[in-house]
Amino acid sequence: MNISIVGTGYVGLVTGVCLADSGNTVYCVDNDESKIKSLKAGVIPIYEPGLKELTDKNVKLNRLYFTKDLREAVGKTDVVFIAVGTPPQDNGEADLSNVFKVAESIADSIDCFKTVIVKSTVPVGTCRKVESIIAKKTKNFCVASNPEFLKEGAAIDDFQRPDRIVVGINFKKDNKKEAQAAKEIIDEIYEPFVRTGAPIYFMDTDSSELTKYAANAMLAVRITFMNEIANLCALTGANVDNVRTGIGSDKRIGKSFLFPGIGYGGSCFPKDVKALYQTAKRHNYEFKLLKAADEVNASQKEIIVDFILKHFKGNIAGRTFALWGLSFKPKTDDIREAPSLVIISKLLSYGAKIKAYDPIAMDNTRKIFSEIEYAEDMYGALKGSDGLIIATEWNDFRVPDFDKIKAALKTPAVFDGRNIYDSEKMFELDFNYYSIGRFPKNNN
Ligand SMILES: NC(=O)c1ccc[n+]([C@@H]2O[C@H](COP(=O)([O-])OP(=O)(O)OC[C@H]3O[C@@H](n4cnc5c(N)ncnc54)[C@H](O)[C@@H]3O)[C@@H](O)[C@H]2O)c1
Repeated sequence: MNISIVGTGYVGLVTGVCLADSGNTVYCVDNDESKIKSLKAGVIPIYEPGLKELTDKNVKLNRLYFTKDLREAVGKTDVVFIAVGTPPQDNGEADLSNVFKVAESIADSIDCFKTVIVKSTVPVGTCRKVESIIAKKTKNFCVASNPEFLKEGAAIDDFQRPDRIVVGINFKKDNKKEAQAAKEIIDEIYEPFVRTGAPIYFMDTDSSELTKYAANAMLAVRITFMNEIANLCALTGANVDNVRTGIGSDKRIGKSFLFPGIGYGGSCFPKDVKALYQTAKRHNYEFKLLKAADEVNASQKEIIVDFILKHFKGNIAGRTFALWGLSFKPKTDDIREAPSLVIISKLLSYGAKIKAYDPIAMDNTRKIFSEIEYAEDMYGALKGSDGLIIATEWNDFRVPDFDKIKAALKTPAVFDGRNIYDSEKMFELDFNYYSIGRFPKNNN
């Protein structure tokens, strides 16, 4: 099949590469000229494990092309995915301007039947609007919703081995033939990825759009709930590791997404929680739980700074802190809404200095914070620092040389926002060790 993907970011590029790898001819379109130039030169503009290898392979096989010419790409293909960004506006609503702009351009380019698939995360009702935009120009199309559930850092595996695929298509009196054609095309596209039995759930577009927000909101609320339990553990002397294992073995609860930390970040959870809250508000429904999750998450991102202020009795002006981890989670260079950004700006506002290290995300962070120091390696960040902060649980940080850490730091204070060390061991090693929801036994 010939497929174009409009928007060549974390979702669009992974989708394009994986669909090329399953044998389709794919045209990845983006209006960012530098991105297309770099992809054509074989340079992948984002970090995602395995993406470079799979891109190179499919380019070589003449199954994967990059272009900024949307009209040309649509002309050559039967299926068009929309995978452009839907960033938050100031009021929290999703900015759909690019989705609609792309829909207009697709409408202008349609010359034969096209299946237009909205993969961007969009509020309920958006596909119906996309449909009405294209319908002004032609009747020879069908719009489907197909939200993406991949996780950055494991995006290729998630795409190729999905838990499920959700597709929204509206079957109406006047579009049965087109809707049926779109359903068959989507079945064919995903057939290679569901051979192990993962279901494809077909539904209407409103339900499909809302499914995506409901999934992200539930995960964000679950993380937030655990963070509040952890905060309560710290106050009462309970250990959140014990509580987590105690509840996770309950089949109704399950074990995943129960690790407490310094708040969820990334390009999805924060914006999707806000956007879903706004959708509810537009329907005169106050979704109190989402508002609370958003507020708790914002304060959770500051908890490490609270620990630091407590440890240094409020005076950190002129002190330097080593910061390990900048990306919002391991195995990605994405720093959108990362807790590290809040930690950096808070510490700077108190007059502290920062020496940061991240295996992948330093270039992206430099674009926001040029005033902080960046170390060549993780131990280089420690020399002469007053404490170590861990903001991302990269594997590199999990089994460090603790003697080296202690020798390099001015004071043996470790502020672990990801609970990657054993608190008893840190106690034995005489560190002042702060973590989330585990009582700091030897701290002053
Ligand atoms: N990143 C994730 O983990 C993830 C997971 C699931 C769903 N999503 C959703 O997928 C969508 C895309 O997210 P992303 O992280 O890939 O975003 P991104 O910012 O990495 O990529 C979006 C791309 O779209 C391009 N673009 C914007 N307007 C365009 C236009 N008019 N014409 C052509 N190209 C245009 C941008 O240049 C950019 O390259 C969002 O709605 C997001 O919520 C993201």
